This record gives sequence, C-alpha cells and structure tokens, in this order.
Amino acid sequence: AYEKLWLAASILLILLLIGSVTYGAVGPGVAMVADSEPTVNAQALDEDERFSEPRVERVGENEYAAYVVARQFGFQPDPIVLPANSTVTFYVTSADVIHGFEVVGTNANTMVVPGEVSELTVEVDGAEEYGLICNEYCGAGHHVMEGKVNVV
Ligand code: CUA
Repeated sequence: AYEKLWLAASILLILLLIGSVTYGAVGPGVAMVADSEPTVNAQALDEDERFSEPRVERVGENEYAAYVVARQFGFQPDPIVLPANSTVTFYVTSADVIHGFEVVGTNANTMVVPGEVSELTVEVDGAEEYGLICNEYCGAGHHVMEGKVNVV
C-alpha cells in the first residue's frame, strides 16, 4: 500500500514540475526580447566601475540598464527594482565563482561567470514581485542563494 502511495506522490511531483516549467515558458511579466540571446563578454569585475555600485540606471525613455553582481551567496542589488512597462538590459557578473541568474517563472536566465559579463535584455510589463535564484551549483550556500526582482 505504501508503495502505491509513494508512486502516486512521485507522479504528482513530476506533473507539478512539468506544470511549473510550462507556466514559466508562457508566464507574463518579464520576458526575454525575442532576438536577445544571453551573450557573455570577457571583462573583469574591476575593469568596469559600474559594478562597484550594482544598480539600475535609466538609459533612455523606458529603457534601463541593471548592473548586477552575484557572489556567494546572494545578488546585488537586492531587491533589483525595475520600472513597469520598460525594456531592461541586465549586465551580470560574478565576484567569485560561477553562478546562475534566473528570474523565477520567466525565461530570463543566464550563467554568470567571474571575469565575464552576461548580458540579456528583457521586456517588463506590470508591477509584480519575482524571485531571483542561482541555478548553478556554487558552494555550500547555493540552495539559499536568492534575491528579488520587484517591478513597480
Ligand atoms: Cu550561486 Cu548557486
């Protein structure tokens, strides 16, 4: 009897996982610009002073640049505050080891490599709070490495 229960629970878990992945693919709110694959440019953290003060900067009408630093075990700035109805280009680098940068429930997702800057552009619409997680194993605190992206 326990085996059947266990099997049912496993199947339910798998269905939930599939559901969350599907939801993520069509989720509203924050979405990668169609022709904007994440790109990675070799550049040391200390060569670009914009990363000395991680922040979101207005660069045009409804256009913003977000400079984000990942380090064991969090992201800066935290939260990352983005204006609604804008286009945001993230520039993400790492201060130590390889991390991931994934805005939960969206397709905004890139690897973050020390000495390199990952760039990805997203369209942001309505106000919402998103989780931000690291999806590359980066050490003992990997599973608690998270932040927030708040669209206001
Ligand atoms: Cu940072 Cu896992």
